[in-house]
Amino acid sequence: MTLKQLLVAAWAVCALPSQAQNTLPVIPLPAQMERAEGVFQFEAKTKVAADDYPGDSIAMVLDRFAQKFQTTTGLKLTRTKAKKAALYLKLNPTMGYEAYRLNVTPQKVVVEAARPAGFFYALQTLQQLLPSRSVMAGVKAGGCCTAKWTLPAVTISDEPRFGWRGFMLDEGRHFYGKEEIKKLLDVMAAYKLNRFHWHLTEDQGWRIEIKKYPRLTEVGAWRNSKVLGWGEVKPDGQRYGGFYTQDDAREIVQYARERFIEIVPEVDIPGHSQAAVASYPEFLACDPQNAHEVWLWQGVSADVINVSNPKAVQFAKDVVDELTEVFPFGYLHLGGDECPTQKWEQNADCQQQLKAIGSTNYRDLQINFYRQLQQHIAAKPAEKQRHLIFWNEVLHGNTAPLGKDITIMAWVGADGAARDAAERGLYTILSPQIPYYINRRQSPLPTEPRSQGNGTETVEAVYNYVPMNGIPAELQPRYMGVQANFWTEWVEDASTVQYLMFPRLAAVAEAGWTPQGLRSYNDFLQRLQSESEYYRLREVNYGKHVIK
Ligand code: ACM
Repeated sequence: MTLKQLLVAAWAVCALPSQAQNTLPVIPLPAQMERAEGVFQFEAKTKVAADDYPGDSIAMVLDRFAQKFQTTTGLKLTRTKAKKAALYLKLNPTMGYEAYRLNVTPQKVVVEAARPAGFFYALQTLQQLLPSRSVMAGVKAGGCCTAKWTLPAVTISDEPRFGWRGFMLDEGRHFYGKEEIKKLLDVMAAYKLNRFHWHLTEDQGWRIEIKKYPRLTEVGAWRNSKVLGWGEVKPDGQRYGGFYTQDDAREIVQYARERFIEIVPEVDIPGHSQAAVASYPEFLACDPQNAHEVWLWQGVSADVINVSNPKAVQFAKDVVDELTEVFPFGYLHLGGDECPTQKWEQNADCQQQLKAIGSTNYRDLQINFYRQLQQHIAAKPAEKQRHLIFWNEVLHGNTAPLGKDITIMAWVGADGAARDAAERGLYTILSPQIPYYINRRQSPLPTEPRSQGNGTETVEAVYNYVPMNGIPAELQPRYMGVQANFWTEWVEDASTVQYLMFPRLAAVAEAGWTPQGLRSYNDFLQRLQSESEYYRLREVNYGKHVIK
């Protein structure tokens, strides 16, 4: 070793600890964060307070935190007046919807926000600053009686870059159940993600109870194979399926609400609908005379809904009505991707309808179908109104009849599609197949589970995607945010879903929250090292190759 090499090595050894100290392990990285001297220590007599708020939802945020904190640490945070409190949630109505400030000194912790969501996010950050992830995971700390529950002195001023920070899970291909969804919502909340896009219907399974159409779940939720055939992999003949009752879905809605996550249900119609067609072929199929079954294969089925049948349109309206009752949030996703038109092209009623709407592009039949659903929703009272979201293939039709208040979720050729949507005056969400389809293999290692992709959607590739890159300022307000998607054709069990989605979901969360200028993969990687404890305690599997 030369003297220079020796000095560099010595510098590296000395530099590492101080670097580690400066980088507090918060994900997503806050917009502004300044370390100070000293620590705040929670004790048996630590008192807390929260300002009044209509509906007392700030108090609810504090109480839930205090309950979790006590479960883990054994320390009870009792209430007192603001002046005497060591942890004080202070209302500051001038701040943004999800913004917060967190000021930790050795004497006091003051959290400021305008809305319950801001307080909730401040407390997520606070939990990441604690010496152990056990409060975040909601588990009893090992050796709790000796642990010192401290926070580093710090000033944080934070708010998200984007209002839409989403994750989509496809449960049409495989079904995982309520407890897995709750676990997922917990981790989403820890990363300040705020939209859970629940892909509930597919060619291979319909997963949500619709009371007016019981066969959707009696027939459509079940198929004769657990694995989905593709190439050498053949259907295995196992009876497989499952679905959520409306009560199950309401329970999930409540769980999500407590974590400031809105659920965006998706029924993917009129394509990707073979399970629905198999349930009610008499009015949904383009060729009701033929046999229809819930699909056992991967890919894109040609067995789409006959959009020219008034009973099929009524069916879709009825489904929308029931979804609107179960999911109280502002957005509804009607799918729209990969919808082959061959069956419409061969169907006399569809041919006639296309003429009647004055088009020669069969994609416009799909738009016409959505237009009828949109008008149906527009006639509802205000609290039942929903904004509609579609996959970007609808841009291949004339979207003008749908107006400007629709959102295009851009996945294939995402950057170009999103820009096309924005230039048409529509809203858009960036969920680029490459690299935000986090079901694809996350490394080329032989230990990677069977899935799509070649291992090129690495944590680094996901992290380094730059949303809204080069988009002119006047189009930027149309970009609502970012979303990672998880398609489950190859993934039969929840543990493999988790392995593939973590830690890449953390990387997408940071793109959604942190100003682009502050983002650095090396810095992220360093902060990521603290996450393995959280994943272990919350009992979620994760890709281990980038975490020591
Ligand atoms: C999609 O990946 N088919 C939206």
